[in-house]
Amino acid sequence: MDIRSVGIIGAGQMGNGIAHVFALAGYDVVINDVSEEAMNKALDTITGNIGRQVAKGKLSQAEQDAAMARIRTTTDLVEIGQTDLVIEAATENESIKHKIFESLAPHLGENTILTSNTSSISITRLAAATDRPEKFMGFHFMNPVPVMQLVELIRGIATDDETYQTLKQVVADLGKTSASAEDFPAFIVNRILMPMINEAVYTLYEGVGTVESIDTSLKLGANHPMGPLELADFIGLDTCLAIMNVLHDGLADTKYRPCPLLVKYVEAGWLGRKTKRGFYDYRGETPVPTR
Ligand code: CAA
Repeated sequence: MDIRSVGIIGAGQMGNGIAHVFALAGYDVVINDVSEEAMNKALDTITGNIGRQVAKGKLSQAEQDAAMARIRTTTDLVEIGQTDLVIEAATENESIKHKIFESLAPHLGENTILTSNTSSISITRLAAATDRPEKFMGFHFMNPVPVMQLVELIRGIATDDETYQTLKQVVADLGKTSASAEDFPAFIVNRILMPMINEAVYTLYEGVGTVESIDTSLKLGANHPMGPLELADFIGLDTCLAIMNVLHDGLADTKYRPCPLLVKYVEAGWLGRKTKRGFYDYRGETPVPTR
């Protein structure tokens, strides 16, 4: 199937990055959100991020202008339903995702492929609540989307081969690389990454290391670009906790028990970079550990 237009639901961190890469690759992009403010913020972020690529000489001003001209925003799901490919990138909450797919259903074109950028929720279960489980897939981009090379492709139990092959081709057209995962809790990347982050929080909780020593150890001792606590703040501690809960509930194994310290930070509203406090405090010039 030929994909020309893409509807993105959710104008947050992931939604704006996904819009950025699709617009640069020549697709028509429609971003949807309930909040006009969030959509305007997303447009500003995309302009700023593509602008950085222009400033570094990686793209021309004409390419930036053409990409920005391909992006529209709307609060109306009707326009989203008319695109060839819908990518749901709303918050990591299953009932919100179900409600979005339910509201979208009456507006969907016959051949529209439906996807979710969920980082952990069952694709089969999300698909089963739509009218097209055979045209439904997990389409998982990594943050920051314009920089990260990988897109995880997750087929639900009913996903047909045409849908899978179409999305594989779309990933190649974006200049990215796909890896296929079976539909089990948190798929591949987060099945491995989140227990590592959770273990880093336990390492802090049990006093084995400080925030700084834990992050320095993994950065310099394992060549990770960010330490695990810095990365947790970057991803969002609420998202990390939600994924650990999906692993814990879905696999029923105590080895996925979320660290109580992670729970405490989330309860405090210290969600990482987006709230300016998490394992680090971002309110000053340079981030400072909060414990
Ligand atoms: N948009 C466009 N470009 C961006 C960008 C963005 N949002 N953020 C960074 N960049 C670009 C910079 O412009 C820079 O480009 P050049 O190489 O051309 O100069 C490049 O990325 C590197 O950025 P910086 O020099 O500012 O910083 P850095 O070298 O420290 O790299 C990083 C930043 C790429 C984020 C790096 O620290 C990194 O790779 N961190 C780990 C990220 C990671 O693990 N992501 C996965 C999270 S898990 C996930 O997403 C799954 C999930 O479901 C939770």
